Amino acid sequence: MMFSHTFAGLVIGSIFIQTTLAGYVLSEDFTKDAFFGNFTPFTEDDPTNGFVKYLDYTDAIKQGLMASVSNFAGANYMGVDNTSQPTTGRPSMRITSTKTYNKGLFIADIAHMPVGCGTWPAFWLIGPNWPAGGEVDILEGVNLQSSNQMTVHTNAGCEISNTGMTGTVNTTNCDVNAPNQAKNAGCAVLSKSTNNFGAGFNSIGGGVYATEWTSDAISIWFFPRSGIPSDITSLAPNPSGWGMPLAKFAGSCNIDQHFQNMNMVFDTTFCGQWAGADHVWAASNCSSMTSTCNAHVQLMPSAFTEAYWLVNGVRVYQQGQAGTRKRGVSADW
Ligand SMILES: *[C@@H]1O[C@H](CO)[C@@H](O)[C@H](O)[C@H]1NC(C)=O
Ligand SMILES: *[C@@H]1O[C@H](CO)[C@@H](O)[C@H](O)[C@H]1NC(C)=O
Ligand SMILES: *[C@@H]1O[C@H](CO)[C@@H](O)[C@H](O)[C@H]1NC(C)=O
Repeated sequence: MMFSHTFAGLVIGSIFIQTTLAGYVLSEDFTKDAFFGNFTPFTEDDPTNGFVKYLDYTDAIKQGLMASVSNFAGANYMGVDNTSQPTTGRPSMRITSTKTYNKGLFIADIAHMPVGCGTWPAFWLIGPNWPAGGEVDILEGVNLQSSNQMTVHTNAGCEISNTGMTGTVNTTNCDVNAPNQAKNAGCAVLSKSTNNFGAGFNSIGGGVYATEWTSDAISIWFFPRSGIPSDITSLAPNPSGWGMPLAKFAGSCNIDQHFQNMNMVFDTTFCGQWAGADHVWAASNCSSMTSTCNAHVQLMPSAFTEAYWLVNGVRVYQQGQAGTRKRGVSADW
């Protein structure tokens, strides 16, 4: 009697382990009309000095900057003002997830992203007490940039190696005060592809950015609309089958120490510290229109008709516990 009970316990134990190894379990499903309600509008001055005025949800809806579901085939629209000539910053949106995260797999399906001279759109993660809690810029760039730049910002003691990714490491030290890098350059990975950012991204209906954050690495993949892996659409994502990521932040860096309690953020700002920096604006082919970025953003509302996000949704997965995994549910963005 005693002996057989023990045996039964061992069998149950091994089933538990197999199920745990089976991987990621859907934790949050911020899709369709469950998107905006799980984010909070940020309405303060832009910390990056952009020529922008961030609206709350009430004003954003009133001014036509925010809409969801029915008008856009299920996607969540976040636009910018395209009619006025504001003197104190163009109306736009920045939203922060109400939940904070420690590790996980973040799957964002985006159908359209802001593009154009003066724009600086980003989808990113940020922790508290910047840069102590870390920052991961998943999808980011400025002006007429044609490929995505992925960047991590930390305090001292985090450097990455140039291996295991298809992108090119441009700067290796994630410390915002790294001595041999521009202030706040962070560790940046440049992609060579022209379908993962801006006009090229929009021309293929966008796709899926997947970001895996473990204790070993923070890795970012992009899948164009026509090449989204079936394990993502079936809500059972397994990054081990996705091939090399676009960017992999790993190396001489204690990930658990440098990245904590991060929120997801979507925003569209204008000009400011990156898009509006004199040398960046001058090199962007935008400067033929106006000598400064701010002048362009203030005076040319009609240049911002493509400066909108269409986000189908974001799903967050965590490593599974036995019995909690959902099966047989198909993704319906
Ligand atoms: C790459 O890094 C260098 C500094 O090392 C910087 O001048 C340059 O702007 C970076 N390139 C891009 C595309 O960010
Ligand atoms: C600016 O335009 C020139 C000529 O069309 C092109 O070769 C160059 O790549 C453009 N630069 C940027 C940053 O788009
Ligand atoms: C201008 O912005 C409004 C509100 O965001 C949007 O509904 C409209 O479609 C935009 N106009 C164009 C031409 O894109």
